Amino acid sequence: MKDTIKQLVEAYGPSGSEEQVAQLLTNIMEELVDEVYTDELGNVVAVKKGNSGAKKVMLAAHMDEIGVIVTDIDEKGFLRFSNIGGVSPHTLIGQRVRFANGTIGIFGFENLEHIKDLNFRKMFIDIGVSSREEAMGKVNIGDAAVYHRELCQEGTRLIAKSLDNRISCTVLIEVAKRLKASPHEIYLVFTSQEEVGLRGARTAAYALDPDYGIAVDVTGTGDTPEARRMAVSLGKGTAIKVKDMSVISHPTVRNLLVNTAEAQGIPYQMEVLDWGGTDAGAIHLTRSGVPTGAVSIPCRYVHTPSEMVDINDVEHSIQLLVAVLEGPLP
Ligand code: CO
Ligand code: ZN
Repeated sequence: MKDTIKQLVEAYGPSGSEEQVAQLLTNIMEELVDEVYTDELGNVVAVKKGNSGAKKVMLAAHMDEIGVIVTDIDEKGFLRFSNIGGVSPHTLIGQRVRFANGTIGIFGFENLEHIKDLNFRKMFIDIGVSSREEAMGKVNIGDAAVYHRELCQEGTRLIAKSLDNRISCTVLIEVAKRLKASPHEIYLVFTSQEEVGLRGARTAAYALDPDYGIAVDVTGTGDTPEARRMAVSLGKGTAIKVKDMSVISHPTVRNLLVNTAEAQGIPYQMEVLDWGGTDAGAIHLTRSGVPTGAVSIPCRYVHTPSEMVDINDVEHSIQLLVAVLEGPLP
């Protein structure tokens, strides 16, 4: 599993340019399910077929990651940029980014009176060139870049960029591997463009018209010094979502997850996230409404180049989803 995680987190896939990650996932899933295809918005859909009349369950894990996008190039070859998804300017200082073609850039910023005045308009990316012409040989307006980081492990903790949400992509892969028999038709969907507004999940859910939806994503924690209050900790189990800013989990799905975790003795925590959203937000509003919940992996430092999860929470999330899919649905 660790090799897969390393491959996925180190891959390039900002929102709207998920092709490299999509290809990796397609190659992996083709061995594990009945059918894999990519839809018009770039979602990768892996199907485990059920008998006729089987309930349709959609599991969604977004495969895109946050990043930056080039808006302008000056005469000395410095790139101006905007954000793709939730990137904080302060997080970027000292960081490296990588473009699709492998070009590496670092962030610089203009002279400021106060560091709190820092914003994207005062920042630039330096790709080691001296002129616009030279820069244009490597990077064009509209090219996107992602954090340039490798996976590290300390004990049971994994540290990497884009654990949000490639760790959940890994969860879906493991579910496909471990699921023996299921009475349901299961759609494992690796969605595009979550970080810019749950866009891929919206069209995928419409096309699949599932009976139930479960999003798999990371969530925040309240277990670091002076953290914002949140009753979720790293290493204390999978997190079952009650609410975030995009969804209030359907009681049927929430109770199914809780009751299954209780019955199987799988450690879990209840998640109330008072910022951010997930694909569940788009799925549950599809057509006339889809009962939807979410399984979350507790994650520290979300949207930084060094996100951190506990491998035990990942394992417990896999176990919970497999148990739910092997059992009957309400
Ligand atoms: Co995110
Ligand atoms: Zn996410």
